[in-house]
Amino acid sequence: MYTTELSDKNKKPSAAAMANEDPVRLAAFEARVAADNFIEPKDWMPEAYRKTLIRQISQHAHSEIVGMLPEGNWITRAPSLRRKAVLLAKVQDEGGHGLYLYAAAETLGTSRDEMIEALHSGRAKYSTIFNYPTLTWADIGAIGWLVDGAAIMNQVPLQRTSYGPYARAMVRICKEESFHQRQGYEITMTLAAGSPEQKRMAQDALDRWWWPSLMMFGPPDDNSPNSAQSIRWRIKRETNDQLRQRFVDVTVPQAEAIGLRVPDPALKWNEARESYDFGEIDWEEFYAVVRGEGPVAKERMNARVKAWADGAWVREAALAHAAKRNGRLAAE
Ligand SMILES: [Fe+2]
Ligand SMILES: [Fe+2]
Repeated sequence: MYTTELSDKNKKPSAAAMANEDPVRLAAFEARVAADNFIEPKDWMPEAYRKTLIRQISQHAHSEIVGMLPEGNWITRAPSLRRKAVLLAKVQDEGGHGLYLYAAAETLGTSRDEMIEALHSGRAKYSTIFNYPTLTWADIGAIGWLVDGAAIMNQVPLQRTSYGPYARAMVRICKEESFHQRQGYEITMTLAAGSPEQKRMAQDALDRWWWPSLMMFGPPDDNSPNSAQSIRWRIKRETNDQLRQRFVDVTVPQAEAIGLRVPDPALKWNEARESYDFGEIDWEEFYAVVRGEGPVAKERMNARVKAWADGAWVREAALAHAAKRNGRLAAE
């Protein structure tokens, strides 16, 4: 997931910026969006729409790539060959998701280098969830079940987002995310049915990942400044609170089915709303993590920067090869 508004600095597109747009083109654009037509890269679009999309898609791409780190740590320690192979495939999928999304963002006029630079310098945000540590094997179960589960909740509506390349990337990503969610739930289910110690590990992982997973949906609607505009332009299709509620409603019965307890004393089925009521989220913690104060934020960024530096020779070799090939083709 990864698609909520994570920056606290961004304001609504200013009235001044919108006033600079050609009113006839703006009206035509808004009519197309309202009719559920896709906007494509060469189509006219308001600058604020372009900027919002670049920010959202690049944050999403960064989250996919940074999300490889907490699980990549566990590939060598997975408890069996089958678990290793499955986890390896999952982590590779996340790398692929990052690539589709960087490519979608590039169609809006930003470059891969600019986006990577923004991530490495700390200017760009990524999902707060990846700044929490993965302490035991049970955390790999909890991440797949809860974090990928939350990602699906967020991303399924984005298959109908108004920007064509983003919507199409999301179709494939959602298929893979549902495999990720199942592999995580299956790990958790196996542990929960295992020895008392294994069950305790599964419960401990749920206890630590539950609240950060709810935070992944972003700030509450009344404190989410860009939401209304993004919904009007169909960049987002549902609000943070709607998606968070749906996640709780789907996930609580899954925990109960395998004998685990969601760590929220206020959690209660509300007959009238046909939904769960749940406790207050610690938004102070959320904003601290957004500001880069998460438990392993520095470690994550150091790992990303090191991977980028270690891969420099691959990028250089690929460029040299492409130049040589182009030269040969030109000569022919
Ligand atoms: Fe992903
Ligand atoms: Fe995933």
